[in-house]
Amino acid sequence: MYEQFRETAMAAARLAGREALQRWRAPHTTRSKGPRDIVTEADIAAEHVAVELILSNYPNHAILAEEGGESAGGSHVSEFQWIIDPIDGTTNYARGLPIFTVSVAVAENGRPVAGVLYDPLQDQMYHAIRGGGAFCDDQKLACSTRGALPGFLIAVDWPRDEAVRSRMFEAALTHSAQIGGWRTLGSAALGIAMVGAGIVDAYMHPSLHTWDMAAAGLIVEEAGGKVTGLSGSPNWWEGASCLASNGHAHDALLDLFQSIPESTNS
Ligand code: IPD
Ligand code: CA
Ligand code: CA
Repeated sequence: MYEQFRETAMAAARLAGREALQRWRAPHTTRSKGPRDIVTEADIAAEHVAVELILSNYPNHAILAEEGGESAGGSHVSEFQWIIDPIDGTTNYARGLPIFTVSVAVAENGRPVAGVLYDPLQDQMYHAIRGGGAFCDDQKLACSTRGALPGFLIAVDWPRDEAVRSRMFEAALTHSAQIGGWRTLGSAALGIAMVGAGIVDAYMHPSLHTWDMAAAGLIVEEAGGKVTGLSGSPNWWEGASCLASNGHAHDALLDLFQSIPESTNS
């Protein structure tokens, strides 16, 4: 069953990615959703085609989509929920910065069991099902084997909330000498998936939404890594913060970031 979910998720992500790509070079209609948060006409269009395809395959399943919100699906509450971020990295997308992805995941009773991340510019599909490993296209993924923080390349994105952002800047400054380097991609989903691909050693964000991390977090776990909230909670999908790592220095990373409060999805 999870394999079928993955097939549908891939098809939906490809459709959404194609929609986003077709509109990328044209001028965008952009609307503010809040401080440092925008949506374009392409987010709406991409989400629409993805949700339509998913519901044509699974009409009774629940949906959680970034732009359209939640729907219970069918006549009863389904244990399966499809979680869609039609463009992760909308600010990059709207400015012409070529880093954005489509994220589609399926959660069973809240816990992600299938997840795909499609990068339409590279035409690359990251995917995983619980217990089945993680892949980029046909290539099996594995986290890096680095064990000591001084060699760690850590990806982060900056939270929108000014107070949390300041605390994170302070922590980054304080611990800068202890780690190899920082990276900021502007797509949390892609940053997390890069841990699964062994490209960066860790990713941290104090305030994400489920749709930013559901697919990518599963990809990291299936690539042999570890994902928790900033408090160390293993049920990362229930919270708003995310620390994804290769698993070799997770506790040291939790210590590094302990002064940063987990904030609720802003
Ligand atoms: C955002 C990106 C960004 C992260 C934000 C997310 P969006 O998603 O992933 O890197 O810092 O917290 O909301 O709005 O581009 O889908
Ligand atoms: Ca997002
Ligand atoms: Ca988005």
